[in-house]
Amino acid sequence: MCGMTDDVALDVNQPSKARIYDYFLGGKDNYPSDRAAAAQVEKAFPNIRRAARENRNFMVKATKFLAGERGIRRFLDLGTGIPTAPNLHQVVHEIQPESRIVYVDNDPVVLAHAQAFGSLDGTAEGLVDFLNIDLTDIDRLIESEEFRNLLDEPVAVSCFGILHFFPDPVPYTIVDKIMAAVPSGSYLSITHATPDLNPALAEVGEVYRSNKMDAFPRTHAEISHFFRDLELIEPGVVVSRVWPTPDETPAGEVGNAKTAAELDAEIAFFCGMARKP
Ligand SMILES: C[S@@+](CC[C@H](N)C(=O)[O-])C[C@H]1O[C@@H](n2cnc3c(N)ncnc32)[C@H](O)[C@@H]1O
Repeated sequence: MCGMTDDVALDVNQPSKARIYDYFLGGKDNYPSDRAAAAQVEKAFPNIRRAARENRNFMVKATKFLAGERGIRRFLDLGTGIPTAPNLHQVVHEIQPESRIVYVDNDPVVLAHAQAFGSLDGTAEGLVDFLNIDLTDIDRLIESEEFRNLLDEPVAVSCFGILHFFPDPVPYTIVDKIMAAVPSGSYLSITHATPDLNPALAEVGEVYRSNKMDAFPRTHAEISHFFRDLELIEPGVVVSRVWPTPDETPAGEVGNAKTAAELDAEIAFFCGMARKP
């Protein structure tokens, strides 16, 4: 279940990106230092909890689309986070039960939960792997047996809520190297915080950085650049609210009291998906 390790010691006094996000999702795996940093984020951007839930929703929508409509059976999830139901492998296995999933994260609390990614929820042995790897060492991931075992079929690579934690050019290097290594017909899915939809996100970036965590919300053009050599899937790089699901019409909320711009400002991240030709 758990592959190679890239151990970072648990420091409960240093806020962690994984634990802060867990707090925003209503989880229990967070400490006073995380909650203090989370309070600063929430002061700058009061809708962060809604945005975090919307981010998870996109994970579910994108995964259902890839497993269901595109028939993908290999998944590589970068920056997995602390388990939050439904987890990606659960969404996949409901549609494609024999699919293989490799999760990657370097947070010690995520590692402590690694057994929950599969064996504890009854997933068949050998279908889910967790790698404790720092993604700045992307070559290590690419050389791993677990990654290589995915490459017999097109792979759905997901980077949900992670690329904005790296300064330029690191996230582009990570994405480019992974997408060069996966077969034709593979997919890249991204969610990424942006100040374009809400200027408060620039302040959120400052809050993270003042708490010794890298964070760099990017513009629509910068986020679109991750997909530059790939075929974008409609509706393109958009706020996730308008991403349709198989059984839902897009932009369902517009027409109520809030304008589209107000709803987008509450979410403040872009999502996108593209196919490797
Ligand atoms: C905001 S969470 C997103 C979790 C999940 N992908 C989601 O969207 O619900 C970001 C995750 O990226 C992980 N992460 C951040 N920097 C990382 C790095 N250098 N290597 C591996 N994982 C990293 C954090 O530990 C955290 O679990």
